[in-house]
Amino acid sequence: MKSRGINKNFSAVAVDALATVVFKGEKGSVALIKELNNLTGGQISSIISSGEFSGEKGESALLRYKAAKGKSGRVLIVGAGEKVKYKAPEVAVAAGHATRKLRSLGLKSFAFAPRAEGNTVEVAAAAAQGAVTSQFDLDKYKTKDKDEKAISSIVVYLEGAKPADLKLGLDRGVIIGESMNFARDLANEPPNILTPSEMAKRAQAMAKETGLKCEILSEAQMKKLGMNSLLSVSLGSEQPAKLIVLKYTPKKNTGAKGELLSLVGKGVMFDTGGISLKPGEGMDAMKYDMSGGATVLGAMRAVGMLKPAIPVLGVVGCVENMPDGKASRPSDVVTAMTGKTIEILNTDAEGRLVLADAVAYAEKQGATRIIDMATLTGAVVVALGHLNTGIMGNDQELVDEVIKAGKAVGEGFWQLPLEGYESEVKSDIADVKNVGTKRRAGTIAGALFIQEFVDKAKWAHLDIAGTAWADGAKPHQSKGPTGVAVRTLVNLIENSN
Ligand code: BES
Ligand code: MN
Ligand code: ZN
Repeated sequence: MKSRGINKNFSAVAVDALATVVFKGEKGSVALIKELNNLTGGQISSIISSGEFSGEKGESALLRYKAAKGKSGRVLIVGAGEKVKYKAPEVAVAAGHATRKLRSLGLKSFAFAPRAEGNTVEVAAAAAQGAVTSQFDLDKYKTKDKDEKAISSIVVYLEGAKPADLKLGLDRGVIIGESMNFARDLANEPPNILTPSEMAKRAQAMAKETGLKCEILSEAQMKKLGMNSLLSVSLGSEQPAKLIVLKYTPKKNTGAKGELLSLVGKGVMFDTGGISLKPGEGMDAMKYDMSGGATVLGAMRAVGMLKPAIPVLGVVGCVENMPDGKASRPSDVVTAMTGKTIEILNTDAEGRLVLADAVAYAEKQGATRIIDMATLTGAVVVALGHLNTGIMGNDQELVDEVIKAGKAVGEGFWQLPLEGYESEVKSDIADVKNVGTKRRAGTIAGALFIQEFVDKAKWAHLDIAGTAWADGAKPHQSKGPTGVAVRTLVNLIENSN
């Protein structure tokens, strides 16, 4: 999608439609709304005063007018809710809503006036990101009835803004939006196509495009390193496990000496549960069990393109969890890379087995801060539903940093405690067991298990099982993979130094 910024003459742009937001309870006295109201012969004030349009989020109204040379013009207004709560995240939603709406009409271009106060770069980036991510769809594998409609160009209007800031923001927003879509495409891929090897290939291709270093560790290499916890998950699969390692090194590192941030992702390409087999109903959803890994690849893609000032290491453990004569069984004991022994009591608690060795590997590569992300537990969906990602960690500063970075871009993280629950993962016969006790505190038990494999690094764990997939469509977003946490991590990285 092409993007361009303008700082004056909104209604004079040559596009298929003009779009802006109207707030809840707004009467239309602002200059821009007045201008559009006049253009449309008073239609805006008329639908507001009649109560047909109230400015609630999710509302929209398309108005037509006679433009020059007998052409017909379009104005789209979208509801933006309360003005005091309208910040960059809401701009992204409004821009996405407008994009999807106008695209459905078969239009190709539009101009969007976000009407947000505040930082030009931030607002322009949000508008571009929202427009880009709104166009993601699930129909990649349809050969018929595929919706080919697309908005190919957006003009963002911020009155009086510096052109350089506008351009910087728009370019940034497009990169972040496309990186989210990159992650979403991976999460949407069927597991017969996106095997661990294919995921590794896509990471390599992405690294080549964005200038990241990429190394793929084979099973033999992982075996040498003692990664028997990760490898145990893969024993039942015909598909060899792969460890994806991506490295970004800035030209000029403004971070503290010796500091290295690492993003670590769960890449379970498909989770049948293994010998602790899952019920058949709904098992198809487990193709998105690699969403944590997809988020890492998406965030690293943005990092490679945005070139922040700190180094970042990306690690994704890719496996397929299958039942088989060679698969591991409940009660098996394996020794992880750190030397800790693990009693596998449930082969369906496989994500933590993958992450145990992946976080240990990251720390061995010099990571001083680790953020891992995973569709780890069904329990987090019970606790937080689909609105907030569960966050836990061993360092409150890092946890707070993620929460803050998320707030700024509109992604919610809610912390659960770890302190006092440590005994949940103690095993009778080995150092740790891979499940908690009964069904209690399942999300916490998952995090505590991973924590056992972090040595000195500051660490935060994101349980995205409830937030990585949307069961329904929204006006600004298709149903399906959300690309959750890509925006947050990019924001955190850009604000780290
Ligand atoms: N991938 C699942 C978690 C999951 C469940 C993600 C639902 C998305 C939606 C994970 O590997 C798993 O099976 N976890 C078990 C852990 C249990 C056996 C301790 C779970 O949550 O039931
Ligand atoms: Mn599982
Ligand atoms: Zn899983």
